[in-house]
Amino acid sequence: MRSISILGATGSVGASTLELIRRNRDEWRVEALTANCNAAELAARAREFGARVAVVADERCLPELRDALAGTGIAAAGGPAALCESASRGADVTVAAIVGCAGLGPTMAAIERGGVVALANKEALVSAGAVMTAAVARHGATLLPVDSEHNAIFQCLHGEDLADVRWITLTASGGPFRTWTAEQLAAATPAQAVAHPNWDMGAKISVDSATMMNKGLEVIEAHHLFPVGLERIRIIVHPQSVIHSLVEYRDGSTLAQLGPSDMRVPIASCLAWPRRMATALQPLDLAAIGTLSFFAPDEEHFPATRLARGAAQAGGAAPAVLNAANEVAVAAFLAGQIAFTDICALVAETLSGTLPGAPQTLDDVLAVDAEARARAAEMLEHV
Ligand SMILES: NC(=O)c1ccc[n+]([C@@H]2O[C@H](COP(=O)([O-])OP(=O)(O)OC[C@H]3O[C@@H](n4cnc5c(N)ncnc54)[C@H](OP(=O)(O)O)[C@@H]3O)[C@@H](O)[C@H]2O)c1
Repeated sequence: MRSISILGATGSVGASTLELIRRNRDEWRVEALTANCNAAELAARAREFGARVAVVADERCLPELRDALAGTGIAAAGGPAALCESASRGADVTVAAIVGCAGLGPTMAAIERGGVVALANKEALVSAGAVMTAAVARHGATLLPVDSEHNAIFQCLHGEDLADVRWITLTASGGPFRTWTAEQLAAATPAQAVAHPNWDMGAKISVDSATMMNKGLEVIEAHHLFPVGLERIRIIVHPQSVIHSLVEYRDGSTLAQLGPSDMRVPIASCLAWPRRMATALQPLDLAAIGTLSFFAPDEEHFPATRLARGAAQAGGAAPAVLNAANEVAVAAFLAGQIAFTDICALVAETLSGTLPGAPQTLDDVLAVDAEARARAAEMLEHV
């Protein structure tokens, strides 16, 4: 039996992970489950899976969590320190599935404990970059990518030498607005942006998919996970989301990973790694799919990938600033404060200011993040 902790257990990736555990109850013991403030859902999941501890990041939600867990023997805790403590409880696998840079502290806590960390929380790696990868090496942790594209690349690179890689190609669905005009994009609503054609995901990543910032963040994520050089990482739009990414080698061979558009596939790959586990998913029916199509990314309508690549090239604090500004802009868009096309404009404007020096520690990254959020929030006033 192996133990597992899930940071962000009430979210979309958290739910998919728990569904895999539900089908394999004999093989897993649940250590810690966490949420931000969704105490009712967290308590329900903690009860069902007999978790040892349940933690809400927002301390104001702790009384509700305590009430919901009264008499169960499951420990309830709240606040940022409790969240990091739960991440370092010594589970065999920790799934880092908090959304946004809020997941950075707990993810680093899990890494510092030195176990297997299945990383969905791309914003944490984008912001912390070298600080996180250095911690992984220093603490002997194993970082497994949950993001479907990076999981695909990880599988395609198995047993290979990075020096033999010619290209890493990230596939992108293109999101719900792939064929929209500039006028349509300017009028896009939050409801339209979160209605992804292929994937059922949380609101923030769905908006990121619609702007293509998700793919931009993924280029930076790939750059840290698979150090082949930024110039060897490219994007292709593939609306069917059947091929999850590709690696081309110098002998002309291209390896790809295919599968249904369901996060249970990459999550299962991480949970069972280096073996495989069964899932209840329908097999891929290529004859029914019929056609796979591919397009070059449209950076004129979707400038986010260019912004992200620029931030990665600049290095230092730039990726953390890009990420923080994007988080502020997406939240403002979802709250109806700014237009869809303002998201990238706000990120570009935040990046155009003087950037702080390269972060060397976790605290440095958090300081850059906080400063960039403040700057982006100030700019929101003038949109
Ligand atoms: N969904 C996907 O298919 C998918 C695919 C690839 C990568 N990812 C990545 O996986 C991560 C999670 O995505 P998701 O779609 O699962 O998000 P989601 O459905 O919005 O869930 C987010 C989770 O994080 C918790 N959370 C939110 N803010 C927090 C905070 N300040 N402190 C602590 N916990 C907080 C939420 O708790 P509450 O419920 O209490 O708010 C929830 O458990 C993101 O980084 C995303 O980019 C997701």
